[in-house]
Amino acid sequence: MINLGVLVSGRGSNLQALIDAMEAESLKASISVVISDNPEALALARAERHGIRSEVVKKEDFPSKDAFDAELVRILRERDVGLVALAGFMRLLTPAFIDAFPMRVINIHPSLLPSFPGLDVQRKAVEYGVRFSGCTVHFVDKGVDTGPIIMQAVVPVTDTDTAETLAERILREEHRIYPQAVRLFAEDRLRVEGRRVIVKDHPGIDESTSLENPTVTET
Ligand code: GRF
Repeated sequence: MINLGVLVSGRGSNLQALIDAMEAESLKASISVVISDNPEALALARAERHGIRSEVVKKEDFPSKDAFDAELVRILRERDVGLVALAGFMRLLTPAFIDAFPMRVINIHPSLLPSFPGLDVQRKAVEYGVRFSGCTVHFVDKGVDTGPIIMQAVVPVTDTDTAETLAERILREEHRIYPQAVRLFAEDRLRVEGRRVIVKDHPGIDESTSLENPTVTET
């Protein structure tokens, strides 16, 4: 069974979705450590409630970003972590960290990448006027939100949406797809070919599926 290390900075609702899937046994994996760079993160209380070990690693305790990341790597190795899942971790990882876990770091991002990488992306999606947004689970490479895409879920953007209402709608999908993506990894069903991630032994999606927004009505 694969050991996960989950990196968090805040609320931890995606951490909770992973915990719930594991407790329901729909995800056969365990979390061997939760690491937060923020001692106030609600995610830490969630870990504690479920008896999961957690560590706080604060950036101000380290002379450089490299030293901070080296400490993360040390803890993750000590806990025998086979997959690092970022779940609202608000810091960029150094190339040395990525090299320590090649194709073993994944992230959930609240937009349909490659649209809207970076921060505050639900607001940017509303302001841009896109008709659809969603979320993306991807491998983490040395860029910002640029790694190979494992899974995406799409939601509509409505005329009355604010950043907050859209974020809520996207978050519901995040909680569905993140455990599923981790499960595909844990079952060794992901093969990376260049930028493309091939999912083995999976029905995929009905090719005729489509959505339009606004809905096409009869004239
Ligand atoms: C989520 O929207 C996730 O996509 C992004 O940060 C947010 C974390 O939320 N990377 P939570 O801490 O999991 O509730």
